[in-house]
Amino acid sequence: MNVASESEREPTLRFKITGTGAALPERVMTNADLERMVETSDQWIRDRTGIRERRIADEKTATSDLAAEAISEACAAAGIDVEELDAVIVATSTPDTVFPSTACWTQRKLGIRGMAAFDVSAGCTGWLYALEIAGGLLAAGSAKRIAVCGAEVMSRSVDWHDRSTCVLFGDGAGAAVVELGDGTTGYLARNWGADGNLAPVLYQPAGGSQLQASADTVARRLHSVHMEGNAVFRHAVRSMSGAAQQAVADAGIGVDAIDLLIPHQANARIIEATRERVGIDRDRVYSIVDRYGNMSAATVPIAVDHARREGRIHDGDRVLMTAFGTGFTWAAGIVRW
Ligand code: UT7
Repeated sequence: MNVASESEREPTLRFKITGTGAALPERVMTNADLERMVETSDQWIRDRTGIRERRIADEKTATSDLAAEAISEACAAAGIDVEELDAVIVATSTPDTVFPSTACWTQRKLGIRGMAAFDVSAGCTGWLYALEIAGGLLAAGSAKRIAVCGAEVMSRSVDWHDRSTCVLFGDGAGAAVVELGDGTTGYLARNWGADGNLAPVLYQPAGGSQLQASADTVARRLHSVHMEGNAVFRHAVRSMSGAAQQAVADAGIGVDAIDLLIPHQANARIIEATRERVGIDRDRVYSIVDRYGNMSAATVPIAVDHARREGRIHDGDRVLMTAFGTGFTWAAGIVRW
């Protein structure tokens, strides 16, 4: 654990992550596989994104299947049965169905009922939004044990003919069991925000009330990710680093007191630019983007799960998480573990 300044405050949002879990499809798609599908190269993908491979769900796997697996694992790690959860929150941009929520489908797959279940739509920032909501529910006494999950089957929202987007994404789910704890753990500082004016920069045009599904929308490939890559890149670096710097300042600690930075993992260059702006050494940044690509809302919780299991996060550590996503949305927070 790194040393914090005298002015470190008590958590502003109290919670404890008592268990984490992850679900990753078995099928690995390498850059070489993509070379056979679109005009691209392993070299281009590695140079521009840092991604070597990603996981792809089979046809029978829906987002809720991955969510259920990750939540089961998180509950096992927390030492509770899934029935003991009193809320299930799933952050996703690739829901099972437009309605009902993926959280409700997840309950069905887990064979549980009764507790509240709902989705959060905030793109890649979704899991941090869900964690903020879970902390508020715990503080309000609305729930005691909440599953906070980020789950995506991005491969079903990707246009496999569009080389500028299909090389970026992967499938997976990550989950945490979040409880109130003894008051010493939780967010030392955090912030969240959005700028909906940037909505058209990264979105799925068809399938909602703006443009309903039709033979024409399918023919024009409007049910997939449409993105202005350069604009996303610029806003990503600005919002992730800005939110992280704000959290560090609000926590009343120096950046040297951060034990680990877990940024949203869209691209190794975005992670590096964020790290540089925040001013954290490379050995305190956790990255899995080379193995899994961008799994949207699932990325941060899977990174948290892997870091925890690899012994990179210890009780008492200060872990800075920061993310950006479609919307545009962003959020950052420093957890005292
Ligand atoms: O969670 C949010 C999700 N989205 C993101 O995080 C995306 C953020 N943006 C990025 O990561 C980058 O903008 C990309 C990786 C998508 C693209 O990198 P870039 O350095 O911004 O490249 P570019 O878009 O400026 O394209 C450079 C060239 C273009 O060719 P020309 O016009 O220079 O001839 C593209 O057509 O690279 C070409 N290109 C490719 N070439 C080989 C685009 N995609 C590919 C590809 N393989 N897969």
